[in-house]
Amino acid sequence: MFASSIKSIFLLAAAAVALPTSGSNQTKPFIWDGGAVSQFPIHSSCNATQRRQIEVGLSEAVFLAAHARDHILRWRNESEIYRKYFGDSPSMEPIGAYDVVVNGDRKHSLFRCDNPDGNCDIEDYAGHWRGENGTDETVICDLSYETRRSLSTMCSLGYTVSGSETNTFWASDLLHRLFHVPTFGQNHIDHFADGYEEVVDQAIENVTLSTHDSETLQYFALEVYAYDIAVPGVGCPGKQHEHEHSSENSSSQSTSTSAGTSAATEAATTTSDAPKNCHTHEGGELHCT
Ligand SMILES: *[C@@H]1O[C@H](CO)[C@@H](O)[C@H](O)[C@H]1NC(C)=O
Ligand SMILES: *[C@@H]1O[C@H](CO)[C@@H](O)[C@H](O)[C@H]1NC(C)=O
Ligand SMILES: *[C@@H]1O[C@H](CO)[C@@H](O)[C@H](O)[C@H]1NC(C)=O
Ligand SMILES: *[C@@H]1O[C@H](CO)[C@@H](O)[C@H](O)[C@H]1NC(C)=O
Ligand SMILES: *[C@@H]1O[C@H](CO)[C@@H](O)[C@H](O)[C@H]1NC(C)=O
Ligand SMILES: *[C@@H]1O[C@H](CO)[C@@H](O)[C@H](O)[C@H]1NC(C)=O
Repeated sequence: MFASSIKSIFLLAAAAVALPTSGSNQTKPFIWDGGAVSQFPIHSSCNATQRRQIEVGLSEAVFLAAHARDHILRWRNESEIYRKYFGDSPSMEPIGAYDVVVNGDRKHSLFRCDNPDGNCDIEDYAGHWRGENGTDETVICDLSYETRRSLSTMCSLGYTVSGSETNTFWASDLLHRLFHVPTFGQNHIDHFADGYEEVVDQAIENVTLSTHDSETLQYFALEVYAYDIAVPGVGCPGKQHEHEHSSENSSSQSTSTSAGTSAATEAATTTSDAPKNCHTHEGGELHCT
């Protein structure tokens, strides 16, 4: 009885393989991951050199995310760096956030170079998520090719994790851009904290936001890459967290940004209010999504 039901299950399974859908056409076996897209689609508006730089940047973004995931898998909250950014949060959410970028299907995403919304004409725009105009789409502007750096320059040229912008590198900049695309960020990863100081504060005061905060995920990935890989056991964390901004040469804007809750509110609206997705980071750089 038991053996025969096993046998009939087996036969049913075999029949399912042979007769995939309507039964009218028996040519194709069922392949669970049929149609998988494993390369990031890049639009024909990107010329050869642009495409090459975006591809290399994306592979660095994937490497950065994969290492961040692997660091958490190895150390969880035993890692001081983990606790600094994620407090005592369960590790599944950040692991998943990184792994979606590493292994998630790339079908519903597109990088393009043709400035369809005209935003690349705005000063300081290095790229943006198209929002309502193309929710799967990311535009990379010419400024990116001039300014974004390879991860191989991590901890050099004056870069420190706390003292430099997260968009210094292609890897972290594109990680941020991927998080805006719903297929990766799933409208769950968002901007809650802006800049290093707010990110570290958030891990103390609002820790449940940290594991799906775009900036936190970028800073953590950069810091563990610096510490584990670029300069092993040393890294380049930069000046550690303090509440005073007096020692920094940032504009008065950034002091008020870091102090007030209005910044968090403003940042939280960025995914829905697509047209003006810019906010000022520490150091005064306009940061556009
Ligand atoms: C079966 O598949 C072939 C090749 O895709 C197609 O030409 C044909 O029309 C299909 N037949 C039916 C009955 O769907
Ligand atoms: C691609 O376009 C950029 C301008 O954005 C230009 O600087 C570069 O030379 C072009 N590359 C090729 C191979 O045409
Ligand atoms: C790490 O997480 C475990 C399980 O949630 C918890 O019991 C422990 O106190 C945490 N350790 C540190 C150092 O925060
Ligand atoms: C904590 O999160 C709440 C809800 O998003 C927000 O209003 C508040 O400003 C946050 N506080 C800090 C210190 O980040
Ligand atoms: C402020 O910036 C100037 C010029 O960039 C630099 O020389 C100076 O050391 C900075 N001061 C502080 C406190 O960082
Ligand atoms: C979407 O398109 C409109 C009309 O061209 C434009 O005004 C707006 O800035 C675009 N939004 C984004 C996020 O680029």
